[in-house]
Amino acid sequence: MNEAILAEGLVREFKGGIRAVDGVDLQVRPGEVYGFLGPNGAGKSTTVRMLATLLRPTGGSATVAGFDVASEAKSVRRSIGVALQDAAIDPFMTGRELLHLQGVLHGLSRAECRSTADRLLDRVGLTEAAERRVGTYSGGMRRRLDLALALVHEPVVLFLDEPTTGLDPTSRLALWEEVRRLNTEAGTTVFLTTQYLEEADQLAGRVGIIDGGRIVAEGTPQQLKAEVGDPALVITPADPERRDAAQEVLVRFGPEVEARPPGTAAARLPGGAARVAEAVRALDEAGISTASLDLHQPTLDDVFVAKTGRRLEGHGGGESPAAGRGKRGRRR
Ligand SMILES: Nc1ncnc2c1ncn2[C@@H]1O[C@H](COP(=O)(O)OP(=O)(O)OP(=O)(O)O)[C@@H](O)[C@H]1O
Ligand SMILES: [Mg+2]
Repeated sequence: MNEAILAEGLVREFKGGIRAVDGVDLQVRPGEVYGFLGPNGAGKSTTVRMLATLLRPTGGSATVAGFDVASEAKSVRRSIGVALQDAAIDPFMTGRELLHLQGVLHGLSRAECRSTADRLLDRVGLTEAAERRVGTYSGGMRRRLDLALALVHEPVVLFLDEPTTGLDPTSRLALWEEVRRLNTEAGTTVFLTTQYLEEADQLAGRVGIIDGGRIVAEGTPQQLKAEVGDPALVITPADPERRDAAQEVLVRFGPEVEARPPGTAAARLPGGAARVAEAVRALDEAGISTASLDLHQPTLDDVFVAKTGRRLEGHGGGESPAAGRGKRGRRR
């Protein structure tokens, strides 16, 4: 197998002419964690559903684990695990029962079902909750069960559609840890969609940014950040009236940063930290004292803004240019 996932010109058009996915090319190598990042309605789930053989492409082609998603759907399904964004799970079944059922569906023997359920419950930390009805699980427990269910048949490629949306920070960290472990220990290829820049940054070796059904940027998080350019120096003048004066000083050092929190002045600073002192001296000479100063390194959020002109939902700014980190949008 050359590529774990290969998509060429993948298109999905819905009735009414909506092109949810509009010519997506993907190349994901075995063992990679690929982050598919985009806002609501970008086409993430539609892409995942096509790659997971749950939805037929209306154009283009794709292979997963070397099998064609259209003509070799069965073989694709045997090779993949999928945790869908909106998976319907019977709330009256227990975690263990669901895992058992999943094993039966994949043709495991009773003994195999039992040992697999035990192992996976332990792996995702649900052993104690195994006999409880899933309807009583918290959001984080549900997502961990989703993950366990996707792992029953030891997939070589794992699709996770927004695995941490709506989770609290602790549950999110636990899930990240589990995904990392799967990837490093079992070598599982992971295709993960997310609206969280931080998540892509943390987990993915490579990131594709999708917007309006098209990939607008792709690369390692480092490469994408480097494209945005120099870090931004953001200062808050002690006297709010002096903001414009401060901005005039800062633009002598580098281009203005448009998206900045109210009351601050900001400019990109070629040379980064090495030139901060110089900029502060210049402010000082202009009689401007600063209440706060921040050298803001580019984040994936900045990349998103640079490529689409918009911020991701839940990253509406406020702290510093593109300080999307740490904000959690809840959607469920
Ligand atoms: N079955 C469908 N029929 C018609 N339009 C659809 C259908 N499924 C999705 N769409 C549309 O396709 C576009 C992409 O949807 P998709 O669910 O792939 O986005 P997404 O990136 O997963 O968004 P989110 O972050 O909200 O999950 C949206 O405009 C959506 O309304
Ligand atoms: Mg989705």
